[in-house]
Amino acid sequence: MEQTLHNLKNQALAQIISAESLEELKNIRVSYLGRKGQINKVTEELKNLGTDERKALGRLLNDTKQALEDALTNRIQELTHAKRQEWLDPTVPGIEPERGHLHLVTQAIEEISRIFEKIGFTRVRYPEVEWDWFAFESLNMPKEHPARDEWETFFVDAPENKKWGKIVLTPHTSSGQVREMMRLKKPPIRMINIAKCYRRQSDVTHNPMFHQFEGLVVDKGINITHLKGTIDHFAKSFYGPTAISRIRPFHFMFTEPSFEVDFSCIHCNGKGCRFCKSGWHEVGGAGMVQPNVLKAGGIDPKEYSGFAFGWGVERAQLLKPGIELDDIRTLYSTDLRYLKQF
Ligand code: DAH
Repeated sequence: MEQTLHNLKNQALAQIISAESLEELKNIRVSYLGRKGQINKVTEELKNLGTDERKALGRLLNDTKQALEDALTNRIQELTHAKRQEWLDPTVPGIEPERGHLHLVTQAIEEISRIFEKIGFTRVRYPEVEWDWFAFESLNMPKEHPARDEWETFFVDAPENKKWGKIVLTPHTSSGQVREMMRLKKPPIRMINIAKCYRRQSDVTHNPMFHQFEGLVVDKGINITHLKGTIDHFAKSFYGPTAISRIRPFHFMFTEPSFEVDFSCIHCNGKGCRFCKSGWHEVGGAGMVQPNVLKAGGIDPKEYSGFAFGWGVERAQLLKPGIELDDIRTLYSTDLRYLKQF
């Protein structure tokens, strides 16, 4: 009896696996599991057996039925799935992949480049990993000078060069000034250097990596009015025609005289509001290039003069209405909710 059941089971499984249609599976089910099916016939014989034998065979019967049911369900799924795959409706709209866009800071960099390129500046790029000499010494900041502390510099653990000094992560785009003088050898120079900068600072208004843009103009007869005019032109192009700029006396080693530059607040047109309080936003530094810096770049300060300015890209961009951000580090986090808006 047991043997008969095994044979029936194997036979049925073989048929199920090789069945090619749902119709065929239905017939197989009737022929084995149906009321008058072959398995039921075996069930009827149970009553002729003794108790122990009946129990054992009963269990085997149930297992066999279950195995056939499982195999049937599997095969039904296989056949219907295969059917679905064969069927393709080319008119169903596709799933659109998510589209990215340029990062807010990249957008600002492109806009800043365009504004300055229109008035004759050339965009340049200089190394992110820089010699101390370009970052500080050539800019009139001798080794050990306390003014250097303001730059919170990252030093690279590498051998020092006799002439160029230590290796640093560029702490400001001013390091491109003397590089540009050396590249062109002779004025006129109209450089806009936009680059990544690094400083050991991290809080709501500072990210250790940020961007600056640095302007440098060197030629005969360059004076403060050229500087002021250029800054004002930028303010109007970047923030709109009502924006104005102002310069306040300050001190930098690489400019003489030096200034801090403010832009009028775009939210309130300089009246004073919760964004600016005073009506102004401080954006960066500027000044007339210090003669020692010109000399370091091989330019004769008796013949030529120049102006320079340098600001943070993130800071300039975040002053635009609608872009306010509580924590500047959000720009470089993996949470895209803020960035997706722009
Ligand atoms: N490099 C300065 C900084 O990172 C900013 C700056 C000040 C740039 C005066 C200039 C300048 O070109 O003339 O704080």
